[in-house]
Amino acid sequence: MALFDTFTLGSLTLPNRIVMAPMTRSRSFDTVPSELNAKYYAQRASAGLIVSEGAQVSALGQGYPYTPGIYTDAHRAGWQTVTDAVHDAGGRIYAQLWHVGRTGHPSVHGHAPVAPSALQPDSTIFTPTGLEQIPMPRALAAEELPYIVDEYRRAARIAVDAGFDGVEVHGANGYLLDQFLQTGTNHRSDAYGGSVENRARLLLEVTEAVVDVWGSQKVGVRLSPGGSFGDISDNDPVETFGFSASALSEYPLSYVHVVETFQADGPVLENVGGPTALIRSQFAGTVITSGGFDQTSAEKVLDGGGADLVAFGRPFIANPDLPARFAAGAPLNEGDHDTFYGGDERGYIDYPTLADLTV
Ligand SMILES: Cc1cc2nc3c(=O)[nH]c(=O)nc-3n(C[C@H](O)[C@H](O)[C@H](O)COP(=O)(O)O)c2cc1C
Repeated sequence: MALFDTFTLGSLTLPNRIVMAPMTRSRSFDTVPSELNAKYYAQRASAGLIVSEGAQVSALGQGYPYTPGIYTDAHRAGWQTVTDAVHDAGGRIYAQLWHVGRTGHPSVHGHAPVAPSALQPDSTIFTPTGLEQIPMPRALAAEELPYIVDEYRRAARIAVDAGFDGVEVHGANGYLLDQFLQTGTNHRSDAYGGSVENRARLLLEVTEAVVDVWGSQKVGVRLSPGGSFGDISDNDPVETFGFSASALSEYPLSYVHVVETFQADGPVLENVGGPTALIRSQFAGTVITSGGFDQTSAEKVLDGGGADLVAFGRPFIANPDLPARFAAGAPLNEGDHDTFYGGDERGYIDYPTLADLTV
């Protein structure tokens, strides 16, 4: 079974090809990761690789309550607890570096969210007082962009100090870097808008800054070609994401992580075989695919050479021992959607393992 082949990812040897996808769980009070978060990740350390939930690189990069930050010394100390617990349990963990851009709300940080252009998404967002319409964002001035790049650089350094094994730049799912990439959200007329080279500039500058800190072999990038989450769209996703993937090939990056179908309205990019096939054709390096996979479809994509690793999201929420369950052909626990975002240890660290069920 290809899922249980080892894989060399830079200097890491992954014991299997099963990746835990990044998942926001909104359980870091005051934005600082805690022992509770450490326990959750340590329970899932049998994944070949864990990618942490999105960690905002600045206060303005936060979109939702109780998501962890990666921009202060308290954050570093909190994340150290998490990485120590994962390493003690035999695992490996990358930090996902996140800036939500326009997908935010003043109730979280007291300011208008920021974006490439002042275009209001037709979306609501979870706030401390319930679901609210996302307000009109403020368009970032070109002079502000070097500061944003520096925020990612600072976050990358904190990730080194906190003991992570690498970092993943969140360029997917309609957040800031994706907003710059795609034509529906980027109407700029400066060096960061218009041509695909210009729209990809911020993603590439951020990647460069993070690579400066980590070395390219420890840096992954997540992309969601054809995704619509965050009311995002592109006139020519094949050009936008094909260009981005081939530009990212210039580094020997750790990987590109593709989001296949998360919250898309229907099949996307069918003419090029789907998002992962598009990236695979343009990116010379390790490809992780994700989105809607089960054991059978994951084996199939690995066997067919469509990807090197497969990430599982929701199945890992409910099955801390997902690799053991796949290996045993055991049934999976069902996840409780009501506890996906926010709350306490319930629906977080209390899903049983196979071993729990057999004692
Ligand atoms: C509760 C939840 C939180 C998520 N948070 C993130 C996140 O922080 N960063 C990210 O890139 N994707 C996030 N995603 C998307 C997942 O990484 C994954 O792409 C998606 O769940 C599809 O995979 P699945 O079908 O295996 O669940 C989230 C998904 C869920 C269900």
